Amino acid sequence: MKRVFSGIQPSGQLTLGNYIGALRNFVKLQHTHECFFSVVDLHAITVQQEPALLKEQSEAVAALFIAAGIDPQKSNVFMQSHVTAHAELGWMLTTLTYMGELERMTQFKDKSAGKDSVGAGLFVYPSLMAADILLYNSDLVPVGDDQKQHLELTRDLAGRFNARYGDTFTIPEVYTPQVGARVMSLDDASKKMSKSNPNPGSYIALLDEPDVIRKKISRAVTDSGREVKFDPQNKPEVSNLIGIYAQCSDKTIPEIEAMYEGLGYGPFKKDLAEQVVAVLEPLQQRYRDIRGSGDLQKFLKQGAERAAAAAAPQLRDVKEKMGF
Ligand code: ADP
Ligand code: NA
Repeated sequence: MKRVFSGIQPSGQLTLGNYIGALRNFVKLQHTHECFFSVVDLHAITVQQEPALLKEQSEAVAALFIAAGIDPQKSNVFMQSHVTAHAELGWMLTTLTYMGELERMTQFKDKSAGKDSVGAGLFVYPSLMAADILLYNSDLVPVGDDQKQHLELTRDLAGRFNARYGDTFTIPEVYTPQVGARVMSLDDASKKMSKSNPNPGSYIALLDEPDVIRKKISRAVTDSGREVKFDPQNKPEVSNLIGIYAQCSDKTIPEIEAMYEGLGYGPFKKDLAEQVVAVLEPLQQRYRDIRGSGDLQKFLKQGAERAAAAAAPQLRDVKEKMGF
């Protein structure tokens, strides 16, 4: 069976962007692939975290994986920090990475912009991400559109290692959904929806109460027109909302445009909110069940054991080739 790896940072509340761009695809892939889904807590500490909060958020993300439909018996769900091979391979790949490559990463530019002091971890984070993926010889990496540049670097590093030390790593392919691969912010459609945005009105958290979701969507920024038309160039805000609608319903973009022709943004937003609520309510119910059941620790322990066993031969091979 082909292998899949993907991770999500426990750096805040997961959003609808994480669900559409990542989680939902994880669920689909587990039926046809051997999957490794990780809460990448080592990535989260590239910006300062409050320890107790990090722990709580990490467990929340793991529970959301399962609530979204990932079967922890079938897939390997684990905390990145529980499998030490990630940090080890991460360091080795860092030594293979060029400064210039990291300087070109748009996520680093975004996250470091305007800051006086920027942690070195934030800069070398893409090398650790490459290790996460290559450790399992992953064939496929389901990530949102925003991660494509990091995936490209991962492929380059795999090729570089293979050229220098002999064939070792599988070169992974990126897997992104067609529509809605990038869900944008509700207050500014030029930025992606992100859990690290300080304005909670800019994102829909997966655990937002239905009424909060309705309020956030009703307040989402639109242009001053009234045409529900998918035109990312000229109507980026409305196009983003149409994309979310398409992702959360069985309707296509042209069908949505036709449904709201001549009706304006009001009815469109109202229905959109109900579509989003219908997707998130059952997920929230399952989340509460999992957190209440006490099974999470057991799943995470099992996931870490299986992931460590899968990573061990690869790490041994890499070390031998590098001369350790
Ligand atoms: P965030 O940027 O919210 O902190 P992560 O960096 O942890 O999220 O990303 C976790 C996964 O969710 C990645 O696969 C990423 O591509 C995806 N993702 C995050 N935000 C979005 C978004 N707005 N639209 C689509 N996918 C997203
Ligand atoms: Na990201």
